[in-house]
Amino acid sequence: MKIFFNPKILAILTIILLFTACEKAYFPQPPRPKVSIQTADLEASYATTPPITLANAYWKTADYIKVTVGDLNTKSLYPDGLLNMTGTYNGINSFNNGKTDPNVIMKAAYDDKKVYLYIEWTDNDYSPNLEASILNGPSDPLKTDNPDGWTSQGNSDKVSLAFDISGATSAAGTFAEKGCAASCHNGKMQPASGSVDLWNWDLAVSEPLGYAKDMITNATTGLDYDAGTAMMVRNKVIPGDPRSAPMYEWDGSEQRCGRPFGDSSKLDPAYYLYKKTAFIGDIVNGDMVYHNETYGCFHCHGEHGEGDGPTGEGTAFANIGFAAKWSRAGIKDFSGKSEHTGFTYWAQVPTNVQDDMIAYMKALGSIPGYYLVNPTGSQANIWTVSNVTRGKINTFNPHTVYKVLLVRDLTNANSDDIQFASPEGKSYPFGIALMDNDGKNHIGSLKQTLTFKSK
Ligand code: HEC
Repeated sequence: MKIFFNPKILAILTIILLFTACEKAYFPQPPRPKVSIQTADLEASYATTPPITLANAYWKTADYIKVTVGDLNTKSLYPDGLLNMTGTYNGINSFNNGKTDPNVIMKAAYDDKKVYLYIEWTDNDYSPNLEASILNGPSDPLKTDNPDGWTSQGNSDKVSLAFDISGATSAAGTFAEKGCAASCHNGKMQPASGSVDLWNWDLAVSEPLGYAKDMITNATTGLDYDAGTAMMVRNKVIPGDPRSAPMYEWDGSEQRCGRPFGDSSKLDPAYYLYKKTAFIGDIVNGDMVYHNETYGCFHCHGEHGEGDGPTGEGTAFANIGFAAKWSRAGIKDFSGKSEHTGFTYWAQVPTNVQDDMIAYMKALGSIPGYYLVNPTGSQANIWTVSNVTRGKINTFNPHTVYKVLLVRDLTNANSDDIQFASPEGKSYPFGIALMDNDGKNHIGSLKQTLTFKSK
């Protein structure tokens, strides 16, 4: 122990210390390149250029959280006429067919104007339908509903964030303590007091136009859309009746729509309805024409449009999304061409019943359950970017991960939105929920914390 008090050694140590100090001062080391590390809170760093693309360098080195997800709501079913809409029925054990941990990663950034939230998760198949209209569609293994006639089928993939607007509470506690649990009350998405802001990204109805659905839930009125025009309208003759006929179909023109960041995108008509025209034709008469002994398409396309009929081989029409991508003019044109094996059959179909038959064929293959309109007001302020190829949704090949960016102004004048005023150094609790082909059952995390780091 004595050695430490030896004056000679002390002097040498002092010199070494001085020398290293000098070295630091005179030969500065270059700053270490930033590497991403896992953090406990979701930390938004200040970004000098807006990280508005997934490829932006900011996201490569940004710190991240890995969200541990659990069951949030399970075993809920929809009312009569709404089928095959609960892909997350058994929570974690159903999500992505119970395959793996969905590996939910989040990153964040902010600049002087906006906050940027990045979310990534694994879901190996696209569920791009939401309540599509199908005639005589599949039954639902979880329900006893009669699938005959028109039903509404299928659900979409979704991610949802919840923020506290005004000190929301429920029997479970405050949002600050319990996160999302404070927005659940009497089994509904409704706090007992205060209000909660919900940001819902939805593959079927928000992704195509480049926004997240912006909703609010409060003690008095419950769950509702923010003020302004909604981006999705139910495509039904009777909007509240899932067993009514569709109102519109694709008009056959290119579905190009502008997006909030100023770019534009093509939308796959198999799943997205943006350029629309009235759904015409009598499906009862169309059924008879389709099954006509002499010229009926069933001979090759199957009794129920399942493909390969009693006379010859033909493609299936009765796949969700299949017939919707064919416009009426497209079906008429192709069916009558000599390269179509069945063209002599088509040639005999009387002109005045062609539209009835096409209505029947389209109905077997589904019509989108919603049509899209550009949102306005407080429903148009959460902008999104994703890795989804909207022009052609490929439901055949396995899909790997979703990557979604949600972007919003830090502050705005809307009372139905959370405000991030002068957020530097402040923390905001939030909840996150994920749905795989579902809109009721979800997995996720009730409470995470978003912290804005100083500039
Ligand atoms: C003799 C068999 C046969 C009959 C009858 C038949 N088709 Fe076809 N159809 C086919 C085959 C085979 C294909 C695949 C393309 C090809 O090789 O012709 C096809 C493809 C189609 C397609 C394109 C679908 C795709 O795969 O993209 C349409 C639309 C179509 N048929 C409409 C009709 C209509 C309408 C009728 C009834 C008037 C009809 N077909 C009757 C054999 C038939």
